[in-house]
Amino acid sequence: MTERTLVFVKPDGVQRNLTGEIIGRFERSGMKIIALKMMTMSREFAEKHYEAHRGKPFYSELIKHITSGPIIAMVLEGENAIKQVRGIMGATSPADAEPGTIRGDLGIATELNLVHGSDSAEAAQAEIAHFFTEDELAE
Ligand code: RTP
Ligand code: MG
Repeated sequence: MTERTLVFVKPDGVQRNLTGEIIGRFERSGMKIIALKMMTMSREFAEKHYEAHRGKPFYSELIKHITSGPIIAMVLEGENAIKQVRGIMGATSPADAEPGTIRGDLGIATELNLVHGSDSAEAAQAEIAHFFTEDELAE
């Protein structure tokens, strides 16, 4: 099934000049970039994105990091894109992420894990609408 998913390179990835490396891995898997932009998340924008984590012990550090500098956000489209992206990203903690995944190869810590990808069809739909307008998506 062709799906769309929301991905972004987190501030640590942009700062470490890993944007091309990270996007390249998704592109080489065959998925298509149908939208792409650099932006810095406001606190309000980040809180909406990470709403599900509000109240968790890591929440305030997460919001602080994610708003600390620019991110590169994109919409990827392809066969089973949501699951495919999560596989290419690797487990949340780089210590648990398999070699060959972005976080396994390049991640430093759970808080500095380089990349976000939607975790379900519902999340993907809501996140794409949060980051992009309909006319920013390529045909
Ligand atoms: P993401 O949402 O960023 O794609 O990452 P994920 O699904 O793999 O992980 P999730 O459970 O949704 O957590 C969101 C982000 O919060 C930070 N985190 N820190 N210190 C901790 O225990 C902890 N747990 C989560 C990570 O940056 C994680 O990506
Ligand atoms: Mg998540």
